[in-house]
Amino acid sequence: MCGIVAACANRPIADILLNGLQALEYRGYDSAGIALQTDKGLQRIRTPGKISALRQLWQANPIQGECGIAHTRWATHGVPNTANAHPHLSGSKIALVHNGIIENHAALRAELSAAGYQFESETDTEVMVHLIDQLEQQHGDLFSALKAACKRFEGAFAIAVTSSREPGTVVGARRGSPLVMGLGRDDAEHFLASDVHALLPETRRFIYLEEGDMVKIRASEYLLTDSEGTEVSRAIKISQIDAEAFDKGPYAHFMLKEIYEQPAAVAETLEGRVYAGQILANIFGVGADEMLARVENIHIIACGTSYYAGMVARYQIEELAGLPCTTEIASEYRYRKPVVPANTLFVTISQSGETLDTLSALRHAKQAGYLATMAICNVPESSLVRESELVLMTRAGPEIGVASTKAFTTQLAALQLLTLRLAAINGMPGKEYQDRVQELEQLPGLLASALELDSEIQQLAAEFADKQHALYLGRGDHFPIALEGALKLKEISYIHAEAYPAGELKHGPLALVDENMPVVAVAPNDSLLQKLVSNIAEVKARGGRMIVIADKDAVASLAADHGEVVQVETGGSLVAPIVLTIPMQLLAYHVALLKGTEIDQPRNLAKSVTVE
Ligand code: F6R
Repeated sequence: MCGIVAACANRPIADILLNGLQALEYRGYDSAGIALQTDKGLQRIRTPGKISALRQLWQANPIQGECGIAHTRWATHGVPNTANAHPHLSGSKIALVHNGIIENHAALRAELSAAGYQFESETDTEVMVHLIDQLEQQHGDLFSALKAACKRFEGAFAIAVTSSREPGTVVGARRGSPLVMGLGRDDAEHFLASDVHALLPETRRFIYLEEGDMVKIRASEYLLTDSEGTEVSRAIKISQIDAEAFDKGPYAHFMLKEIYEQPAAVAETLEGRVYAGQILANIFGVGADEMLARVENIHIIACGTSYYAGMVARYQIEELAGLPCTTEIASEYRYRKPVVPANTLFVTISQSGETLDTLSALRHAKQAGYLATMAICNVPESSLVRESELVLMTRAGPEIGVASTKAFTTQLAALQLLTLRLAAINGMPGKEYQDRVQELEQLPGLLASALELDSEIQQLAAEFADKQHALYLGRGDHFPIALEGALKLKEISYIHAEAYPAGELKHGPLALVDENMPVVAVAPNDSLLQKLVSNIAEVKARGGRMIVIADKDAVASLAADHGEVVQVETGGSLVAPIVLTIPMQLLAYHVALLKGTEIDQPRNLAKSVTVE
């Protein structure tokens, strides 16, 4: 998704901006640009494509200055070309970068065109720079113009603006999209960014802007206000992010590194939360256990892979805790009038904690009469964490590959902590509870064993490399694992993959099956195994190529002609969905590798989806 970097310092900052954009590459983008206040006035360089292309343009024309803004754009309004790339200018004096979407851009465009402004792009963003230019001339200063302009914008935004009428100044604001301020060396330089990663080489000290906040930075000072322009003070946080997370190390891709980090990431997620067959008290926050004792219903809301984690939890919460649970996609939930039964816990799941649909769903839920809101999230300083009453961090560490891997398995582990806590409260016998918690404690070792299947799965990947379509099948709490397997394959290899509950096959999708259709089934050793075996037979009877990712104890139930079987030690029914995810991830990875696609930054996708 789009990225912002801005800097004011007493030294040349072009490198800070370009390196910052490079650090944001993992979020996905399709064009980039920088604008600097130089001794020749405001100068800008923009290009479609990669930061390397922007760097080459800059090397050919190395503009320098001590104040400027930069952007990576992920196209929403208008194709990825130079004219649509940010920064956008109004005349020659003012430049702006924007993350988000301005919903009333058409009305503002008409108004500003009537006032004589010429538009050069198809973007929704360009109205912002012209409006701020107009207001700067009316109000006489950039910050007042920003404040007045923010009142006119409808939609979501984080922006950074610089004007050569105010040398050495950048102003910014956030509403709906994240923006953070970095405090640099000796408090004599200040930065803005949409993501702390962009600034880690320069500083570890950050102020996270709150919803509606506006900021003015100069090299030696800053001003922070709320949306009304009242000066506010916000805590300075020291980022603990490990610099190694941004290094692929010996791995060819971040995705592969992150797949291999899963045993450690899950162990970290369980660390200090489970011990000797028990889940420790109040791991969801102070007073959480009393609240959980009152829960009668659960609503889980998330997007994409995080939604699939929520789907697994739905099966497990209903089965083990006996509480009604629904899981819903955030972009649907946020526009619905939910009927909330008494004592319902609202749970969001998000790797980034900045997914706009999930955040908006949380804000929507706060008006709907829930017992409490809980976030399961990977980014401690994220908006989702800050706005939720209870929180369980997943501790996966930064996930750089766009396709979610360790975020998913750590979410599942965290959700199982919630499930078992609720199960214990709602009468699960002590012995069973202890056995289940011990199953969870075995998880890191089981994940490490599953990773040993890598070379076996690499061989199977060849089956897919020349295929256009694939089907994935699962039942019960493994149906969402089939969905996740299909999502991974389509995201990074661009093969069309669909997942179905295996029992649904004969109600339509079976018509697609022939010898050109690889079909992947997830086969845990559970009560539905015999049903799944019949579904596999249905595929084989139509000539389909089966690949079965099976619990090693389920293998005996499969017929000899049931296709390729990958045997996995899953360690029991609770954690089986997590363990069986690993072969799915490896399969997608190796297929993409054979196809030569951009694994860490798949086309059209972004890491943290901060627009609707
Ligand atoms: C898929 C993927 C996405 C995210 C989704 C939600 O591999 O990464 O589907 O899961 O965009 O993102 P978060 O979890 O950050 O809210």
